[in-house]
Amino acid sequence: MVRLETKNGRFKVMQFADIQEIVDFSPDTENLMRAVLQKENPDLAVLTGDQIKSYGVSMLGGDSRAKAEKIISKITSIFESAGTPFAVLFGNHDAFGEATREYQYEIYARSPMFVTGGEYLGGVGTFSIPVYAPNGGQAFNIYGFESCEWVEELNRFVNVPERQLELYRKERDAIREREGRYVPSLAFQHIPVHEIHEILKRVPEGTPGAVRGKRPFDGRYFVLGDTVRPGAFLGENAGISDVNTGEFQALREKRDVLGLFFGHDHNNSFVGSYQGMDLGYCQSCGFNCYGPGFRRGVRVYVLDEARNGEYDTYTVTFAGLFGERAERPLVKVFYDHAASSKAEAVEMGKNVLKKAAIGVAGAFAVKGLIDTMKNGRRD
Ligand SMILES: [Fe+2]
Ligand SMILES: [Fe+2]
Repeated sequence: MVRLETKNGRFKVMQFADIQEIVDFSPDTENLMRAVLQKENPDLAVLTGDQIKSYGVSMLGGDSRAKAEKIISKITSIFESAGTPFAVLFGNHDAFGEATREYQYEIYARSPMFVTGGEYLGGVGTFSIPVYAPNGGQAFNIYGFESCEWVEELNRFVNVPERQLELYRKERDAIREREGRYVPSLAFQHIPVHEIHEILKRVPEGTPGAVRGKRPFDGRYFVLGDTVRPGAFLGENAGISDVNTGEFQALREKRDVLGLFFGHDHNNSFVGSYQGMDLGYCQSCGFNCYGPGFRRGVRVYVLDEARNGEYDTYTVTFAGLFGERAERPLVKVFYDHAASSKAEAVEMGKNVLKKAAIGVAGAFAVKGLIDTMKNGRRD
């Protein structure tokens, strides 16, 4: 396994959220990924799920394993040519057909730049990665959680179940045993926790820029709250799971986790603080899916041993690197929904029809049915 070390007491992590690509990989996604790696030279990249747009029309039929391999090989080749170690989580859109998460994990794991993290937290798509001081002990730890595990008995996805939280506690305490202290850590996962709403501010319906909550927060409206760091944007509601499994409280109980960061909601990018722990989002970086226009990008986190418990974070966007000029120009009205190939345009058309069908069905269906259909959001 690649041994990760601080440089001059610092360690730079770069989050790639929702690359969400298809076999016809967008040159704009590739250019963005290559450019941010070259500009920032991070010590570790963390891919926080939805690397693959498994529901894309061009992904249907044929050899799913071969398609997954092509997309993943493209992604790993980008990190290999930059010489950047990377770790991988899965999202709700990665697995499809025969290309299971386990199958995809093996492809990522073949890369010499892949950091396993040892599956410490119970299975593929979880990790606990130590970062060492060159001549000392462990300086930091980077956790990755599986946040969209399908639980058969419940017939739904569950956000970081208790079993995984127990594994985290064991790992955290083992580090303390070894190092004599809790080590400052960052944590990543695909789906946000319910407490993300604490970073937001509740406002009256009709407030400009407000998003409507969902699930337990349905009917309430939110804008960015007062603790949010500059340079943030909120473009959609938080795609939380039905049940709060107590993850936030578990991660903050020993104050080792400085922040927990998400992807999944492509149009959100912000970091704020609640009860002494940060929560935040990285916007999406893929151009073959909906997203925040030319503000697609990555989020950087700089841990610094000299500032134990404090870190810097900022985003690097496509606009900041290339301006508003994409390789595959798109009509602005479609841009945020990003059809950048013929196959994707067909898919977009289908989605429009589907939304219309949902509208008609909604007039007649019971509330439970409507909720089920809303959950089919393509993110
Ligand atoms: Fe997602
Ligand atoms: Fe996504």
